[in-house]
Amino acid sequence: MQKDVQNKLSWVEVSKANLAHNIKEFRGLAGDDCLLCPCVKANAYGHGLVEAAKIFLEAGADWLAVNALYEAEELREAGIEAPIYIMGYTLLGDLERAVELDCRLVVYDRETIEKLGEVVSGGANAKPVNLHIKVETGNNRQGVPIEELPDFVKLIQKHDGLKIEGLATHFANIEDTTDHSYAFAQIEKFKKAREIVEEMGVEVPMMHCANSAATILFPEVRMDMVRVGIASYGMWPSNETFVSYKQLDKNGFELKPALTWKTVVAQVKTVPGGEAIGYGCTCHTNRETKVAILPVGYYDGYDRGLSNTGYVLIQGKRAPILGRVCMNITMVDVTDIPDVALEDEVVLMGGDGQGGEISAEQYATWIGTINYEVTTRINDKIPRVII
Ligand SMILES: Cc1ncc(COP(=O)(O)O)c(C=O)c1O
Repeated sequence: MQKDVQNKLSWVEVSKANLAHNIKEFRGLAGDDCLLCPCVKANAYGHGLVEAAKIFLEAGADWLAVNALYEAEELREAGIEAPIYIMGYTLLGDLERAVELDCRLVVYDRETIEKLGEVVSGGANAKPVNLHIKVETGNNRQGVPIEELPDFVKLIQKHDGLKIEGLATHFANIEDTTDHSYAFAQIEKFKKAREIVEEMGVEVPMMHCANSAATILFPEVRMDMVRVGIASYGMWPSNETFVSYKQLDKNGFELKPALTWKTVVAQVKTVPGGEAIGYGCTCHTNRETKVAILPVGYYDGYDRGLSNTGYVLIQGKRAPILGRVCMNITMVDVTDIPDVALEDEVVLMGGDGQGGEISAEQYATWIGTINYEVTTRINDKIPRVII
């Protein structure tokens, strides 16, 4: 796939000032002794991997977290030298490359350690490989169960070139609730894990577990590094997180959304009353209707669940979606918006600069999902324009 081939029929504007603002807000919370590691996986939550990473680093971020090796490759190719932490699985066959790129790796299975042991024993790499053991504390996703930690640590210790740089864990239930007892039970297990490793005489230079919600809500869980994703992009992790913030009597932490997805009108036509619009004839006009055709559809990440449900903004006004969102085309009602013309600008998500906004949260509510999903699913081939 050629990366530089883009689909310019829609574009995503990303506010550099707002991304930088959010990182500075987190620096304010975390202080100078805690590493700030924004998550730029999933194309920087849809904001453009390399562009967002550079802005975050310039704004004071220390590390970058990605999910997979290909994202680390792209960052290194773009000349980014900051520490990169790969949070997801790295294929055994890719471990050598990850080491070459000086990536920090999350580890939780024995096969990975054995393979890394072979990689470092080759002598090609003088520098130690920095590993972060993912501790299973209740998410039951990645992770080494606490009772298996001693054996896992011993396995790592067999290989001179492997260094335990940190212990990591991830919350299962922090943004979905205002009751954080499950999260705090996870923290207790995580602390226990540290004790177990230290009792073996092994130093644990770093402990980290905090995502956006944890970092915003609980100073005591920030530890040595915070891995902040969604809120770096100016979105609250959930309503519950916002409510919890208020319940804790906190104030002053302000997030600024950075993403606006736009397209243009590709045709304007008048459809008589009583006609059907789109696949499945799921919409019928009840009056003469002026329809604007938009050149985006579910292939672009414009979700089919928006059919007959969402709206877009044109000239500062709402234009409801008519019928089904197609693969590459969407129809909207502009009957009440005067003089809509070919290639007029259309806002699909974000602010229109005239006081109107379709927040990622609003859009997510229409289709029964969360803000995380709607921005990350904007197709990577759509240009990201930094403004
Ligand atoms: C391991 C890990 N850490 C941190 C994050 C960041 O979470 P958030 O976007 O809620 O800040 C994620 C996101 O999925 C994650 O998987």
